[in-house]
Order: sequence, then C-alpha cells, then structure tokens
Amino acid sequence: MASMFFKVLCILPLLLVSAVGAPGGRVGGLGYKGKWELVSQNSGVSAMHAMLLPKINKVLMYDATIWRISKFPLPPQKMPCHMVDPVNKIQDCWCHSVLFDIENSQLQALKIETDTWCSSGGLTVDGNLVSTGGYRGGANTARYLSTCKNCDWKEYPTALAEPRWYATQVTLPDGGFVVVGGRDAFSYEYIPREGLSNKKAIFLPFLRDTSDNLPLGNNQFFRIENNLYPFVHLAPDGNLFIFANNRSMLFNPAANKVVREYPALSGGSRNYPSSGMSVLLPIKLYVDNPKVIPADVLVCGGAQWDAYYFAETRKQFLPALRDCGRLSLMKPNAVWKKEVMPSGRVMGDMTILPTGDVLMINGAKTGTSAWGYAEEPNFVPVLYKTKAKRGNRFHELAAGTIPRMYHSSSVLLPDGKVLIAGSNTNNGYLYDVKYPTELRVEKFSPPYLNPKLAKLRQEIVVDTSNKVINYGKRFRVNVRSKELGLNKSDLKVTMFAPAFTTHGISMNQRLLMLGTVEVINNVWPGTHSIIVAAPPSGQVAPPGYYLLYVVYKGVPGVAMWVQIK
Ligand SMILES: *[C@@H]1O[C@H](CO)[C@@H](O)[C@H](O)[C@H]1NC(C)=O
Ligand SMILES: *[C@@H]1O[C@H](CO)[C@@H](O)[C@H](O)[C@H]1NC(C)=O
Repeated sequence: MASMFFKVLCILPLLLVSAVGAPGGRVGGLGYKGKWELVSQNSGVSAMHAMLLPKINKVLMYDATIWRISKFPLPPQKMPCHMVDPVNKIQDCWCHSVLFDIENSQLQALKIETDTWCSSGGLTVDGNLVSTGGYRGGANTARYLSTCKNCDWKEYPTALAEPRWYATQVTLPDGGFVVVGGRDAFSYEYIPREGLSNKKAIFLPFLRDTSDNLPLGNNQFFRIENNLYPFVHLAPDGNLFIFANNRSMLFNPAANKVVREYPALSGGSRNYPSSGMSVLLPIKLYVDNPKVIPADVLVCGGAQWDAYYFAETRKQFLPALRDCGRLSLMKPNAVWKKEVMPSGRVMGDMTILPTGDVLMINGAKTGTSAWGYAEEPNFVPVLYKTKAKRGNRFHELAAGTIPRMYHSSSVLLPDGKVLIAGSNTNNGYLYDVKYPTELRVEKFSPPYLNPKLAKLRQEIVVDTSNKVINYGKRFRVNVRSKELGLNKSDLKVTMFAPAFTTHGISMNQRLLMLGTVEVINNVWPGTHSIIVAAPPSGQVAPPGYYLLYVVYKGVPGVAMWVQIK
C-alpha cells in the first residue's frame, strides 16, 4: 500500500507534464497539446452512433439490436422485454439505446426494437432526432425521438422504399431530409412525413458506378464496395456535394441532375469499408455576403481500394492512407489540392471545432472497416489548422490510450471538449479479446482549453441574448467578460450544427463563421454586446438548432443553443 502510494506520487508530476505538453509545440500559442479525461466506465451500450441532442444536453448513443445484448438491462418495471422470436420464445431484455448526460455521465434507458445497425440520422427544425435505416427489419425504418421528458422511440418499419444499410442522411434547406445510398441501394429518397411510406426511390447511377468489385474470373466477383456511407454535404447554393469512393459531384436532388463533376481524388478509396473522413470546412459569412459563397471540402485518409480484400482473404492489413484532398466546391474548375497527414488513418473521425479548425481523432493505421480487419490503433489526434498555410496545417496532439477503431464516435460538446466513445470491432459484446467492446467514455480537451487561457473565455449571458434567430437578420449576443472592452478584430461568433456520427462519418456537421456588425462594450459594466448577422438562408444553414460559440483570441467559451428558422 505504502509503495503504491509512493508510485502514484512519483507518477503524478510526470502525468501533469505530459498533459500540458512539451514547450515549443506551438499549438494554441502555448504548446499545450490537449488533455484526456475518462468520464465513464460504462456507457451501457457501445456508442456506434452518437449525437448531442439540443436543449437537454444529452448525447444519444445507440448500437444495434442484432446481438440482443449490451451492458444495460431494460429496467424491468418500466420497460418489459421485447419478444424477438415468438416461435422459439427468444426475448431481448437489454437497452440498445441510451441518453448519456454530459454533465454527470448518468444514463437514461431508451427502448428500441428495429435494428439500428449501421444506420443514419439528423435533427428536425425542432431539435428532435430522425433516424433512418439499419439492418434487416430496421433497413426501411424511419424512427423519431423527441427530447421531451420520458419520451421514447417511435418506429415506422416501412417508411423507406429501399433498404438503407450504411446510407447517409442529409438535411435540406427546408429542414427535410434525403437519404443517399446504402448496401445494394444505388438510389436516394426523401424521408416521408411521419407515418407515411415511400413507394419508390430515385435511381442514382453514380452509386452503381463507384462500387468496387474485384474480378475473380469465371464471372465471379469479390464485393468490396468502397462507396457506402457516402460523404454528403449541403453546398451553400442548396445543391448536394456527394463523394463516393474516389469520385464526387455537385447534385441537385429535386431535379435529379448532376450540376458539376469534379476530378477523381487519387490515392485510394475513401468510403466504407475503406472508411476515410470528410468535412465541409467552415463557411465564412459576412454582414453582406457575396452572391456565391465559397466552401471547401476536406477528405482525408481511407485505404487502398483492395485493402478490404487483403484483410478478409489473407488477414493482411495494408497501411491506411495518409493523404488529404481539399477542394473549393463552388469553383467551376475546382481541383483537389493534396496534403499529407502526420500519420495514416482509416475509420477516423473529423470534428469541426468552434474555432474553425478540425480535429482528426480515432481510427487505425492499418486495415479497413469490418470486424477485426484493422490493427495499430491511431492514438494520436491531429489538429488541422484550416486557415494556416499549406504545409503548416497539421499538428499532433496528446495521445490517447484506449483503442478507438471500428464503431467509435466523437461529439463536440458545448464547452468545446470532444466526447469520445465506442469502438467495437467484434461480432457481439466481447471483453476477453485483443480489442474488447469499448464502453468507456472520454472527453478530449483541444489546445484552446489550456487552463492558462481560461481568462479569455467569454461567458455568454443566455438570458439577455437572442436565442431564436431569423435568416438574414441581425441578432445580439451578450457576454460577461474579464476584459474592459473587446476589439471586434479579436472576436469570432460561430454556429455549429450538431453532427450525427457513426463509422467515421459526421452527417450534417457544419460550422458557420458569422459576420460581426459591431461590438458595444460595457452595455452594463463588464457586459459587452456583439451584434452579428445571421446566415442568409436555409441553403447556407438549414433550419434548426445550433451551438453558438463566442471565440475570443482563438479561445471559445461555453456555447449557447440557438434556433434558426
Ligand atoms: C478511382 O477508383 C477507380 C476504381 O477503384 C480506379 O479504377 C481509378 O483509377 C481511380 N481513379 C484515380 C484518379 O485514382
Ligand atoms: C483593434 O485591433 C486592431 C487590429 O489588431 C487594431 O488596429 C485597433 O487599434 C484595435 N482597436 C482598439 C480600440 O484597441
């Protein structure tokens, strides 16, 4: 006991040093490389899918129902077991979906019956979740979850015309949704009104043409795909940017028309199972916006096109891709500009931070998606400095210790930390294996949360700030400050649309940097008002809830929820 105590004392100062990071790292100004905290030993279900829900500040986590097991039994009085197979009397008595409280890590049980395995999702204008697709009985399902107290899932198993397993859901300028792709679904469809069913989907040849097969001779093929969970971003002109495998286009879903095709991105494949990552980089807005609002897309990592074949047939795990491509998608002759990450990454997550920089986290350095098809967890997150010069954008941060590979997730929180959960590379809940089913939840603090910068954090006065905002209008954000006055040029007000994350893809993730009209210092002593211009339209910012951050000298304070409509 005594010697253990001594050890702890010896290790502690070392830990502190490593958390603060070696001086000279020059990240966030003071060499701070971020910090990891373990906030829960047991999330009840492994967070294959995760999303921060507005208003209640809880992260919805769910996996799949197929295994009929998790670490969280259904509460017997409130939620009876669900009969899966009445003939053989097989029951499921486990939660597959929970609400995780980001303040105290408490879990709330939810009950879901249709299989959400590898499904998709997004938020309505009112901040409620709409989930689509999944496996077998869940594949054609649309599900609804409201944030009201004691509300639970509502499931409509025949809503969609085609099965949507590994499909991408995207929010449209009017707040509706389109679901794109999925295994054996070379099509897209609009999510019908609650309770209705689609008769037919719309064929999308691009998805058929980007599906990889390896010819084996005698008309036999080995199915690789590489175009599942396509990256779909709403462009600021209201069209959809769709990226699958190594190709991309700007697409008008209402007219079913390809607006523009972009050059192929060389280097390998970027979508499931060669799961790379992609974000729509922050959209910079002004008080008076130009007619065409520029937007860049970033696509990073992934695997060689035949990596899945090597993993499955030879248990050989090829190195993950190390390159990124960045494309200005509103430019008529846009070309991919290549960059190289410090390390290879497959199955990683990209989370846009309140500052407009991008965090690359989770994943592996070899192999592909699917059970047991990867090795060498990539423990080192990377900060991508969006506005830095090319060649100076990547910065390695403090390494984590828990492998987060297949089926892991990341969620930006109101305080600027990033919640990291999940990882299950097993067919079931297995603990006695090399990479156990992961139930631990962590929070990662990016460099801007350096304690030495704490005095720069501006505190939003929620009561007196505008929380419902209208397109094209000006609105007011009040902050309580330790500064006597704030200089407009040191301030950025940003709006973040919460992302639905699963399998390294963050659906509907979006950051808008608003135009500042003026700063009125000391409206009350110590309180300053920032007048900002709201986004001009639903094309630029689909209606709904956003986290609004005030970033001062590169340091964000705690966000406030705003609703735009
Ligand atoms: C894109 O992928 C296809 C199919 O895997 C491949 O044949 C083609 O050469 C790739 N294109 C580029 C530019 O790498
Ligand atoms: C605000 O910052 C700008 C640019 O750094 C500087 O030129 C200006 O003097 C500052 N204004 C005040 C009032 O400090």
